[in-house]
Amino acid sequence: MEIIDQPSYIKTFDKKDRALYTENLSVFYGGTIQKQFDASLQFKKNTITALIGGSGSGKSTFLRCLNRMNDQVARVDGKIMFHGLDVNQKNINVYELRKNIGMVFQRPNPFPKSIRENITYALKANGQNDKQKLNQIVEESLRAAALWDEVKDKLDKSALALSGGQQQRLCIARALAVKPFYLMSQLVR
Ligand SMILES: Nc1ncnc2c1ncn2[C@@H]1O[C@H](COP(=O)(O)OP(=O)(O)OP(=O)(O)O)[C@@H](O)[C@H]1O
Ligand SMILES: [Mg+2]
Repeated sequence: MEIIDQPSYIKTFDKKDRALYTENLSVFYGGTIQKQFDASLQFKKNTITALIGGSGSGKSTFLRCLNRMNDQVARVDGKIMFHGLDVNQKNINVYELRKNIGMVFQRPNPFPKSIRENITYALKANGQNDKQKLNQIVEESLRAAALWDEVKDKLDKSALALSGGQQQRLCIARALAVKPFYLMSQLVR
């Protein structure tokens, strides 16, 4: 695991290992209120990277920029590069970007649908209709999020009937189902 303790930690990876990195990233809410300062970070492939910082220090702000979820609320200065692509380029396909850089939000937000539908929703929207394949991905994703054993007998029950922790694991499974390149998962201690 790579631990990044902002703002002092800057590490340089071999170019081939850094599929995602930022250079001098600053974020401004409301035009002038700066919430992220000059962050140059690199995220190594196939590695868990933890961003640790006090409440309100800007971790979520930073992460939201990486897949353009801050577009409507903030101005972003600096560079974000993903596989050689400038993430802030005007003509980028943000849906494709978010498929590659997924996000699990700080608070669980399952769809008001069944457990199974939470996992299959995006896959179906992307044209996957093979029932056997969908069942396989449902199981794989729930296993990867350590939820399978608890829900395997109630896949068609409402996701909203799960506990908060189970809902959050379901959201992790939902995010994993589309096989993102990176998954940004926000946890609260
Ligand atoms: N949409 C927004 N508009 C204005 N200010 C915002 C917005 N979102 C966050 N902020 C402010 O930006 C700062 C950083 O917030 P952020 O949510 O990034 O912190 P965090 O490090 O994720 O905190 P926590 O550990 O509590 O999740 C806070 O002062 C917060 O009030
Ligand atoms: Mg946060």
